[in-house]
Amino acid sequence: MTGTTAESLAELRKKLGRLVSEYFKLRYKGAKVLSFPSGKGGVGKTAITINLAAALAIKGKKVLVMDLNFALPNIHMFLDEAPSATLTHYLGGETELNEIIGEVAVRDARFDVAPSESIVDLKKKIDIEKLKDAISLLKARYDYILFDHAPGLSKYVFYPVKLSDHVFIVSADVKPAYMDAMRVLKLLEASGINHEGFIVNMVKGSELKYFAAMNVFAVIPHDNHLKKAFLSGKTVFHSKMGFLSPSRKFFEKMAEEIIHTFPPDVGD
Ligand SMILES: Nc1ncnc2c1ncn2[C@@H]1O[C@H](COP(=O)(O)OP(=O)(O)O)[C@@H](O)[C@H]1O
Ligand SMILES: [Mg+2]
Repeated sequence: MTGTTAESLAELRKKLGRLVSEYFKLRYKGAKVLSFPSGKGGVGKTAITINLAAALAIKGKKVLVMDLNFALPNIHMFLDEAPSATLTHYLGGETELNEIIGEVAVRDARFDVAPSESIVDLKKKIDIEKLKDAISLLKARYDYILFDHAPGLSKYVFYPVKLSDHVFIVSADVKPAYMDAMRVLKLLEASGINHEGFIVNMVKGSELKYFAAMNVFAVIPHDNHLKKAFLSGKTVFHSKMGFLSPSRKFFEKMAEEIIHTFPPDVGD
């Protein structure tokens, strides 16, 4: 194959990717769907998703978090009351959407959560493309829908990322995480998927090392309060002592930035 043909094929793939995402954006008005993929695991996707959801809810937004980590789901830890079924069951064609939504109360606010159960534990198959049906119904009910993903770019991550309106790659500022984040960025770019910038988490000190010259949407400091809250299924906004949490104002800032830059689509 000549270089020119390979190039034009890559261009065509990008164009197709853009057309597909434009199609979804035009078709479904309402919530902005925000997606937080990563290269490496353990970089804080779940922590960011749940704490950002709390920050957005406290600012008066209607928020839903969907647990799309079908191997090792975590989001159920944060639920006040579990729904009768999970997103895994919905994508397996076993239940309706209304059966899978639970709630988290945080201060005077609340947000919704669609938890998942491990397909390994349940020994079940899911049809990830059924997520499109869910999103088309849910977009009208919320201002923001946040996707909590598994690490990497399997089809269980890549398909939801394609459905989302805005993508933020999460990483820590260390070499292995940075290198895998770059791989994810390349794969997204090759499919014509834009990302809005990196969210660099667990940052110690004031200078970024690997991400210093990159498009960074938000930086979140390393925060032992967050870690402790996370272990007991809480966000940094739950505790009265939460003001001591160094990451809290960063989540507030990120929520403001998102509301300002990516407002929900209202009306038809
Ligand atoms: N900013 C942070 N400061 C300190 N610990 C954090 C921070 N963000 C996440 N963690 C901790 O790191 C661990 C992995 O986070 P998690 O959100 O589960 O990562 P992922 O979802 O990407 O696998 C958890 O114990 C979490 O509490
Ligand atoms: Mg996680």
